[in-house]
Amino acid sequence: MDKLVIKGGRQLSGCVTASGSKNSSLPIIAATLLSGQGTFTLHRIPALKDITTFTQLLNHLGAVTTFSGNTLNISSQNVESIQAPYELVKKMRASIYVLGPMLARFGHARVSLPGGCAFGPRPIDLHLMAMEKLGATITIETGFIEASIPGGKLRAAHIDFPVSSVGATGNALMAAVLAEGTTTISNAAAEPEIETLCKFLIAMGATIRGTGTTELEIEGTNSLNAIEFSNVFDRIETGTLLAAAAITGGEITVNGVEPEQMKAVLKKFVHAGCSVKTTENSITLKSPEKLFPTDITAKPYPSFPTDMQAQWIALMTQAEGTSHITDKVYHERFNHIPELNRLGAHIEILKNQAIVHGPQPLSGTKVMSTDLRASASLVLAGLVAEGTTEVLRVYHLDRGYEQIEMKLNCLGASIVREKYNEF
Ligand code: UD1
Repeated sequence: MDKLVIKGGRQLSGCVTASGSKNSSLPIIAATLLSGQGTFTLHRIPALKDITTFTQLLNHLGAVTTFSGNTLNISSQNVESIQAPYELVKKMRASIYVLGPMLARFGHARVSLPGGCAFGPRPIDLHLMAMEKLGATITIETGFIEASIPGGKLRAAHIDFPVSSVGATGNALMAAVLAEGTTTISNAAAEPEIETLCKFLIAMGATIRGTGTTELEIEGTNSLNAIEFSNVFDRIETGTLLAAAAITGGEITVNGVEPEQMKAVLKKFVHAGCSVKTTENSITLKSPEKLFPTDITAKPYPSFPTDMQAQWIALMTQAEGTSHITDKVYHERFNHIPELNRLGAHIEILKNQAIVHGPQPLSGTKVMSTDLRASASLVLAGLVAEGTTEVLRVYHLDRGYEQIEMKLNCLGASIVREKYNEF
């Protein structure tokens, strides 16, 4: 296994370019299953473990893929299998994204249930509800979702989500574009990743109104085309890099971004005392002498994202006072806290809220990654901890951060990747 060995105490400075968004890549890769003609060319796809896992799933279904640089070519012409097996689905919950497109194109799909998650329950009831509304029959048998369409073709419906869900909105969209008639989705997720999926589907020939809002209207069509498309930047990677500058007292610029998508996070950096300057495609953050404590609540977009919650807690360990960080999306997403406390932080958990007592000097030790964003928070803590921090099990980090140690080292960090044996 790999670990990151971080020598703390170095201020970050300089410029770095954001990678393409992982969470946008996954639904657009799934959406290529909707077209039986031609080859898709997708640019700015990050070279990440999750992308490899997802393309393996597409290959298993019969799609042909080539990935070079950050360009992914996909031809789904020869897709024949409609079964997403446990061995691939268990590696990544986002595999559920193949359900909607496979069902819409082939009339049936067999997808393994995704299973548990490191930070609490992550049900898929809303994905299934959306498929049923569109006319599918769903049964769960021997660990598989068996979905079929008795009438042969999905029918338009009104789908009203009781909870805002990125994944379920994506699946509903990908199914509705090939359904008969006009589907409406209320309380749709408005995350930039869903906006990007809408733009992708529209470029393929779909008709979608309300892109970027919580009310979507989709006119079904019979066929969609293969296209060339450029993915958007990764807003969570960008927020993590900015937090790395803020926690080390540094100043960095992240290029290749759309600051508009990061308003809630940038506002909190300003509340914490950072100076934030934006251009059309860059963000420059300068850390203050002393960070102020801040209270945040993670909620669906456009609010502060749950995927930045762990990194924000790490940052607030260095603020002058007490911060309250509440997660209203995933109430139990606090695996990083015991590990941050092992580095010297003083953080308590009260239901779905973390109370961070800062500032606390951190000192390096071995810490364990438990999930993707938890690992990012440990790396941030390691950047400011005295001495050497070893972040173990970095395969979690590698799922979502492209060349993270290379990017941080270019900004002045000292991080080395080493192999180790876990007993
Ligand atoms: C996506 C992101 C993940 C992010 C999350 C919330 C990807 C690959 N992953 O995950 O990084 O943390 O959005 O922004 O894009 N829910 C249900 N029933 C369902 C589905 C969801 O109750 O069928 C609940 C969840 O438990 C959660 C909330 O809805 O409380 C939001 O989850 P959702 O937006 O679906 O998360 P994902 O799409 O899995």
